[in-house]
Formats: sequence, C-alpha cells, structure tokens
Amino acid sequence: MTWQADLAERARAAMPAAMWQYVSSGAREGVTAAEAGAAWRDVRFLPRVLQDVSHVDPATDVLGHRLATPVGIAPTALLRAAHPEGEVAMARGAAAAGALHVVSSNAGHPFAALRLGGPWWLQAYVPPDRDSLGPVLEAAVAAGASAVVLTADTPVAGTKYRPREQDWEGVDLSWFRTNFAAPGETRWATDLGPRDIGWLREVSGVPVVVKGVLRADDARRCVGAGADAVWVSNHGGRQLDRTVATRDALPDVAAAVGEQVQVYVDGGVSSGLDVLAALSLGADAAFVGRLAVHALAAGGADEVAATLDRLTAELVEGMRIAGCARVSDTPGIAGPGRLQGR
Ligand SMILES: Cc1cc2nc3c(=O)[nH]c(=O)nc-3n(C[C@H](O)[C@H](O)[C@H](O)COP(=O)(O)O)c2cc1C
Repeated sequence: MTWQADLAERARAAMPAAMWQYVSSGAREGVTAAEAGAAWRDVRFLPRVLQDVSHVDPATDVLGHRLATPVGIAPTALLRAAHPEGEVAMARGAAAAGALHVVSSNAGHPFAALRLGGPWWLQAYVPPDRDSLGPVLEAAVAAGASAVVLTADTPVAGTKYRPREQDWEGVDLSWFRTNFAAPGETRWATDLGPRDIGWLREVSGVPVVVKGVLRADDARRCVGAGADAVWVSNHGGRQLDRTVATRDALPDVAAAVGEQVQVYVDGGVSSGLDVLAALSLGADAAFVGRLAVHALAAGGADEVAATLDRLTAELVEGMRIAGCARVSDTPGIAGPGRLQGR
C-alpha cells in the first residue's frame, strides 16, 4: 500500500461517513476528479546530469513570502467535520512545515484563531451582496491573511451525488460559515467579472489571486484586470465534470502569463514528483486539497506537518536526481507540454 492510500484509509476511519463522501466526491460521474492524479503520473522528465546537487533547496518565494516548500494547502470547506481542531490544526501543521495555508470561506473557526505565525491567505467566494464581504475580508486581514484567493469557478456549486442531505444526520455542522455576516447565505454571485478583481484588491488591501483559471485567454484577462497571480484549478473535479486535467491546462496558462505573474496549480497532486512535474510545466507552487484533509483527519496538525514534509522530501530527492539544485532549475519534460528553455 502506498503511504497516500494508507493515509486515506486512516482518514476514512476517523471521519464521519458523510464527511468522507463529501471529501472524496467529484461532480456528477467524477470523471475529472478520477483522472487528475494519473495526469501528473503521465509526465516524463528529462533529467539533467553533471549538475552540482550537493545542496538542494526547495524554498520558494510566493507573493512576498519566503516559504520552505512550494507545496501549499488548498482551501477546503467543513474541516471541523474532519477533525475537531479544523483550520486551527491545519494552520499549525502548515506553519510547522513552513508551508502556505489557504483558508476556505467556509472555515469553521474564527479567523482570529488562525493567527499562529505561519503565512495564510483567505479564499473568497463573492456573495450576491458584495458589500457583505467587506467585514469578512477586514476580519481576515486583521488576523494576518496576506492575500485573497478569488474562487472564480463556482457561480453555483456543481452537483455531487454523495453525500445526500440525510447522510449528515448526527454530524455537528453548527459552526458552518462562522466568519460570515449572513451565516445562512450559501449563494454566490453569478455575475463575477474582471472588475471584481480590482474591487477585491481595493476592499481587502492585499494581493488578489484568481483560482479556477484553465484557459490562457482568461489568465490574460485576470492579469489585465490586476490579478497578482493565477491559480490553475478545476476545483478538484467538483465543479464542471469532464473539465480538462490541470496538468493539461497549466502549460498554456504559464506560457500566457507566467512572465508577468506567478502561476499556481492544484488537482490530484499527491506526491513530490507530482510537484516536480507541476514546477516543470510552469507552476510556481502546487497545492494539495484532499491529501491535506486526509492528513488532518488521520492525525491533526502533526500529520499535516508530516505529510507536507514528506512531499517536500520526495520533491528534494526528485530534484537532486534530476540535477536541479533550486526550484527554478526544473528538469525538462518529454513530449507535450514541454516549455522552451526548461
Ligand atoms: C472537501 C473539499 C472542499 C473544498 N472546498 C473549497 C472551498 O471552500 N473553496 C475553494 O476555493 N475550493 C474548495 N475546494 C477545492 C480545493 O481548493 C482544490 O481546488 C482541490 O481540492 C484540489 O484538488 P485535490 O483535492 O485533488 O488536491 C474543496 C475541495 C475539497 C476536496
């Protein structure tokens, strides 16, 4: 059994069944969710030889933060149903590993509880009444959020067949949307536009990252509207099923805007070699969603830190064998998706 499968087993045993289904599910038939990991495993490296790899440094700069690792935690909702310490434990684990933590809009702990020393960003869904987001952003920034991640791929939540409403019976979700002015609100704006990027920047006073970008033309629109970075994501296959794998979308987005802004990616990343593939295809950082939730459920902050450390150690080994001393020296990639000069 791989360590990832072992972690998933332990997480499954530790979580309410409905939460396990919620975390595991993809939209509709789950085609996109199912193929994400295999897409990274299909990447073939062209390692370099005769390079000095006595010191391999996985550290990276992400919007003003010097991070020990290019692996970060993607925003995922309902973490208190995975582990009683929810986002607080996730934040502690990320900080221990020197990783960036992105906190979901639907966090179950107040933002003030996340001021634990490590860098964190707030993921934001924009509600139809935009003004109601102001106090949420203010509270997050006051608690140390150093960027806002605008999730642009969710005008409505994609249909998932599991869990059903009744499967949640007996699971305490009373903390749902703790940080929102209108806690009952579960609808999002369906008229998001490039102007929302500038608006978010102005209201929050921190950089804005647009998450859910899969096309080069959209990436250019985001950057034209003032985005500080774009995040290639299909929401873990939880929005439009049969959406392209992020591995396949990343090279075009990186080619379109990678010289101007940073490009991040998520979706099926579960090993250090997946991260190496992401960096090789033009990403500046890669984020893990489900894998981090599995770690959280299986063993709280310590397991989150151990999982991030493990991914980073795998990445370092891969970099060393591929002849890359720094994250900017990625190995070449054979076949489609090859980047000139990489
Ligand atoms: C259980 C779960 C909840 C999620 N909740 C959010 C969320 O609140 N906001 C958001 O932008 N993305 C959310 N996502 C998407 C993740 O940020 C990320 O894009 C995705 O999980 C990456 O794929 P992976 O799980 O294969 O690593 C969620 C994903 C999962 C699995």
